[in-house]
Amino acid sequence: MKTHRLTASASDIARAGDLLKSGHLVAFRTETVYGLGANAYDQNAVTSIYTAKGRPSFNPLIVHVPHAQDSRDFATWSDEARALADAFWPGPLTLVLPLTGQHSIAPAVLAGNTTIAVRVPQTASAQALLHAAGCPVAAPSANRSGHISPTTADHVMDELNGRIDAIVDDGPCGVGIESTIYDPAQRMILRHGSITAEQIEQVTGQPVSCYDGSNDHSPSAPGQLSSHYAPSAPLRLNVVEPTETEVFISYGAHHGDFTLSETETPEEAAANLYAVLRRADALAFEHGKSIAVAPVPTEGIGRALNDRLTRAAAPKS
Ligand code: TXA
Ligand code: MG
Repeated sequence: MKTHRLTASASDIARAGDLLKSGHLVAFRTETVYGLGANAYDQNAVTSIYTAKGRPSFNPLIVHVPHAQDSRDFATWSDEARALADAFWPGPLTLVLPLTGQHSIAPAVLAGNTTIAVRVPQTASAQALLHAAGCPVAAPSANRSGHISPTTADHVMDELNGRIDAIVDDGPCGVGIESTIYDPAQRMILRHGSITAEQIEQVTGQPVSCYDGSNDHSPSAPGQLSSHYAPSAPLRLNVVEPTETEVFISYGAHHGDFTLSETETPEEAAANLYAVLRRADALAFEHGKSIAVAPVPTEGIGRALNDRLTRAAAPKS
């Protein structure tokens, strides 16, 4: 299969929308990471996402729609969920909502769950693509399962060239780590992202708990599997003094092989994280080294940063 590299021009978006509608796989840029989209009503199309990624079939997908209203056929909305959508959509928050009794979402999207993860992405190109497709679009991150998520079109091509029909190249992603996943019924964050527990509490006025990872064998968000987002080289965290056999990723003024943020800004570090991990992994491979990462802040988006780094460092099963 040839993977067509499209732009975010109106004519290319129209073409990409037609491809999605007719059951093909199209990668596209969201504000978090690139997603690999398929028509969420089309069981064959959704199944081919799992094949292209090598994704385990028990891991459900997030459905992307241009507006909250476009989910009403398949998602059940509580007042609390609606308040969160009003506050944060379009934006990097995924809401896990009960399915409606009657819906046409393909079973492969849901992987047996009675809830559905819904997200309204922010980029103009994703919005235009969803409108052009005219259907809900199931989209995991556009990487091979277990690999580092892609934040540029080149990353997607490195991972999936020849396995998908097209990619809409719209430049690098701004946020750089996947959306916060929140379940309003349990008042629980299932995956940390740039939208924090404090921000959610401010909207709902209710305390928020966080999935504690103690349940890794039947994860309610398999993005919570301990090894995930992983480079090939072993990775050591909170390193102040790297050894000679380590590629060093620093935080702040450039004194390593790479820095996550020259200016020590957690948002910048998040935006750079996956690209830097990919480059460090390539350098480590070239020189037979491992990777060491400096301590990064734990507040705000720093919590999600540390979460992804911990998973990248976890032993691979
Ligand atoms: O930022 C993002 O969320 C990106 C962009 C492309 O939108 N997407 C993304 O998808 O990160 P993916 O498939 O890599 O991660 C989706 C996570 C998985 O951990 C999955 O288990 C969880 O969402 N998930 C999907 N449906 C769920 C549900 N009904 N209940 C709980 N977790 C669910
Ligand atoms: Mg992913």
